[in-house]
Amino acid sequence: MAKSFIVKGNIIFSKSPEELSVNEGSYLVCENGKSAGVFKELPERYANLPMDDFGERLIISGLCDLHLHACQYAFRGTGMDLELLDWLNTQAFPEEARYENLEYAERAYDMFVQELLSGPTTSAVIFATLHRQASLILMEKLEKSGLRSLVGKVNMDRNSPSYLIEETAASLSETEEWIKESARFKKTGPIITPRFTPSCSDTLMEGLGKLQKKYGLPVQSHLSENLDEVEWVKKLCPDCEDYGETYERFGLFGDKSKTVMAHCVYSSESEVARMKRRGVYIAHCPQSNTNLTSGIAPARLYLKEGLNIGLGTDLAGGANTCLFRTMASAVQVSKLRWRLVDKSLPPLSFPEVFYMASLGGGSFFGKVGSFDKDYIFDAVVLDDSGICSPRPMSLSQRLERLMYLGCDGLVTGKYVDGIRLF
Ligand code: GUN
Ligand code: FE
Repeated sequence: MAKSFIVKGNIIFSKSPEELSVNEGSYLVCENGKSAGVFKELPERYANLPMDDFGERLIISGLCDLHLHACQYAFRGTGMDLELLDWLNTQAFPEEARYENLEYAERAYDMFVQELLSGPTTSAVIFATLHRQASLILMEKLEKSGLRSLVGKVNMDRNSPSYLIEETAASLSETEEWIKESARFKKTGPIITPRFTPSCSDTLMEGLGKLQKKYGLPVQSHLSENLDEVEWVKKLCPDCEDYGETYERFGLFGDKSKTVMAHCVYSSESEVARMKRRGVYIAHCPQSNTNLTSGIAPARLYLKEGLNIGLGTDLAGGANTCLFRTMASAVQVSKLRWRLVDKSLPPLSFPEVFYMASLGGGSFFGKVGSFDKDYIFDAVVLDDSGICSPRPMSLSQRLERLMYLGCDGLVTGKYVDGIRLF
């Protein structure tokens, strides 16, 4: 059960894309699982609460990974010399087919969840595979970990290899059965997951739209990631104004169905307007977009236009689950985009990518991703004392460098929902 307590240390969190709140030697109060705020001097009314004193360590609000494939963990860091459609056929699909074997799913998902738990992520929106049982195994492990997550049993009924496809009716009935079975979980929950338009027939999409409505579930998928993919979708859906409409026409694109779409590298003006109008979240996945030679999404434009945007590692298009590395990629590709493509969109700053990785993505889950009063209490403690430098560093610099140096082994404490996981 969530308790009331205090953590003390160097507390950093995002208040907006422009504002990083940096609080040296301060007190962060958790009251019944929610933040009561950050204080330089501890108010008298909290004097009797127990306290975890983290000294010189950094305490940040938990990070949110808005898009990753748990089932692609096994081949992370390999096979990156192909573009999306060939990569799916040669790397992703053969691996995902293994999850029919529940013993394999047990072992692989154990490793994945352990890694996610040990890093800076506290919330995640995750793709499993099309296998109902294996998806439940993943959810069982996530539930036990204490992390907050949404998991999708994947739907695909066309343009997919014979070893990784379901008949339309079976895909829908398995999905409904899985939704019912996952009602037992509290920390994890189901999210409707058409893989992407090329792998889902209209009948399947229509059925998923009905399930979304019936159970009031969120939605995740992929959007405008790769040039060949975008052309393919145009051919498959010639009547749609843009790729976004191929989801919207079935009620799978925001508004009443809370939706996150990964990538949005090649979103047209009408698609951007559609996402804005319907409050669709963008999962910006710069590491994956680089590895799969997809391109550079105009994240600066999305921020400027006030769209909902967070970061996704897109494991295993992205090679690891550390959102600090993804933040660095986001900054780096935005610089290249500015230099080589469009001088009207300046590069992203550290506070902006930290915002995306925390509050920007976290808000998909509600009041998540900040230490402002009434936000759900998710915190990560980082011990960077082993990173040497002969000169003093500000707190903000100490955090910023983790984007480039990585945070492997530095996460020494983690709280989700006011509960200490370690
Ligand atoms: N589009 C459809 N499936 C996938 C996938 O597994 N990874 C990525 N990056 N894009 C996709
Ligand atoms: Fe993906």
